Amino acid sequence: MLVSLADRLYRLVYGGGLARLPEATAVRVGQSLFRALPVAPLRTLRVDDPRLAVELGGVRLPGPLILSSMYYDVRILRRAMALGFGAVTTKSITVGPRPGHPEPNLVRVATPAGPGLVNCNGFKNPGLDAFASALPRLRHERPVIVSVAGESPEDYQRLVDTLERHADLVEANISSPNTRLVYELSGSPTRVRALLRLVRDATRKPFILKLSPDYPEENRRAIVPAALDAGVDALNFGNTQRVDEPRLSQRAGGLSGPELFPTVLETVRELRRTVGPRVGLIATGGVDSPAKALAALEAGADAVGCFTAFITQGPTFPRRVNLGLLEVLEQRGLRRLSELRTPG
Ligand SMILES: Cc1cc2nc3c(=O)[nH]c(=O)nc-3n(C[C@H](O)[C@H](O)[C@H](O)COP(=O)(O)O)c2cc1C
Repeated sequence: MLVSLADRLYRLVYGGGLARLPEATAVRVGQSLFRALPVAPLRTLRVDDPRLAVELGGVRLPGPLILSSMYYDVRILRRAMALGFGAVTTKSITVGPRPGHPEPNLVRVATPAGPGLVNCNGFKNPGLDAFASALPRLRHERPVIVSVAGESPEDYQRLVDTLERHADLVEANISSPNTRLVYELSGSPTRVRALLRLVRDATRKPFILKLSPDYPEENRRAIVPAALDAGVDALNFGNTQRVDEPRLSQRAGGLSGPELFPTVLETVRELRRTVGPRVGLIATGGVDSPAKALAALEAGADAVGCFTAFITQGPTFPRRVNLGLLEVLEQRGLRRLSELRTPG
């Protein structure tokens, strides 16, 4: 009852209103509405079942679906936990506050695979000091992954050093295409190696490296081996894919949504073969249905990240994925999600 009401309401608010507004206005209105919702009714939408629990870098997640990096407002992250994400990731935090790139910095795109987004957000965030004072207010009802992005290996070290005490897991983003310095890191494996060493020394918390789909050769040849040498606990594949987009202020941005999924699936399968069973893997990019979450888990992912589908499908998306996965476990007579993995 509440589920269909929530779905209807979201279709009305998003389809009937927000999707017709310019994207920047839609984002502002959507976030204000979500922030204002009481948390308790949101909790009734979530599916709690021990069979959904997965392990990532030694941390137990009560469900496999992770809210991918985009929000720094702890009120939004708290509500995402209530909806049944197994973990939430913070926006990538930078040392100084950043206003982000000027608008337009987000547009909708209709791709053959379904609705997507292209953003040139440019790391809009309050910066290290302000975020370090806000983050302790977030109760860890579900694990919190703190994401960081810097302009040098030392930036990453400083960010992790300050924020890791408030994190269950730490994620280093070397892959967002919207600022030259972060994006170019993925093309510079020597600097990534230095960064990985500094971050590893700065925390004993599980450490995730988020990879770019735009650097397959560098990832394969240098970045993944460096991550394994440095003792990274998990890899997240991946971030948005750089595309030209004349409607954006930067004339280019990062594509998200279902168009990314075939590459994500193929890469996760390959990564699982390369890294073996112990390193954690998150499949992020274009997961917009229970079937895609299932395919990613079968291909070797421990967990599945999503952002765009949460926007296009609304607050019942985590519930739909979790129920779909439980149904598959029942059909196949399995006791936990890790048993879904298909060898090879
Ligand atoms: C508006 C916007 C802002 C984002 N900001 C970040 C960020 O700060 N750090 C990061 O690692 N990824 C960021 N992402 C990428 C997402 O976390 C995710 O990796 C990507 O959108 C692919 O997943 P999806 O297809 O499910 O959206 C952002 C994506 C969007 C659309």
